[in-house]
Amino acid sequence: MRLIGIGSKKILRLALYALPSVCIVDGLLVEPEWVAIRKIDIGGGRSTRRLVHFTDLHYRGNRTFLRGVVDRINALDPDLVCFTGDIVEEREHLGEALDLLKRIVSPLYGVPGNHDYWSGAQFDKIAKAFEATGGAWLVDAETTSPDGELTIVGASSHNADFIKERKRGRRILLTHYPAFADMLGGRKFDLILAGHSHGGQLRIPFWGAIALPWGSGRYEKGLYQTSAGPLYVNPGIGTFYLPVRLFCRPEITLIRL
Ligand SMILES: [Fe+2]
Repeated sequence: MRLIGIGSKKILRLALYALPSVCIVDGLLVEPEWVAIRKIDIGGGRSTRRLVHFTDLHYRGNRTFLRGVVDRINALDPDLVCFTGDIVEEREHLGEALDLLKRIVSPLYGVPGNHDYWSGAQFDKIAKAFEATGGAWLVDAETTSPDGELTIVGASSHNADFIKERKRGRRILLTHYPAFADMLGGRKFDLILAGHSHGGQLRIPFWGAIALPWGSGRYEKGLYQTSAGPLYVNPGIGTFYLPVRLFCRPEITLIRL
């Protein structure tokens, strides 16, 4: 028993010494490109549509990685794809990012994030690329699916004044900022999609994000019930500031609704 006790202590000590190195390797080299596919059903078993949500590309020129993301989105065979902002941080990467996004074979709908504004990305080019898929770039605007059953509303900031009364069918809100879900003044949606938080990028297991950017509110990542409807906060594909993700894999989400 004594021998086992000493051995266990040694193993525990070795594991504690190795833990920082394992976290560094995982956070820098493994997780940033280890894309997870998460599947959720908010239709209560009566779902009729397959929607893919992805966000926060922060594309910096890694063609192989983004090509792989697009291929995985296409493999999910969605009815529509929704993107909730931050295509690039530097405008010079926009053309290449859009060339790759145009390979999405389902209608692609999207809204801008803060970095799309800060980079000076040309919204007319983005709109053309999204329209080439049959979708739309929605800057305080709304559109309907070809069958008229789904209204997709895209908000550019924290202003909800442009949002009209619900007509018919189901209504989805795309926003970069999760906290916007608490600023909708009684407006209701069947689904609200947001990004921006990156899930914090660095997370502590069983605790959560170390820090979140402004505009995230109390929403880190995952599905939340809000007074305006169900909110899904996607942790994003890319990284901001530090090229690192720890206990926070990039994610493509398939939502049945
Ligand atoms: Fe972002």
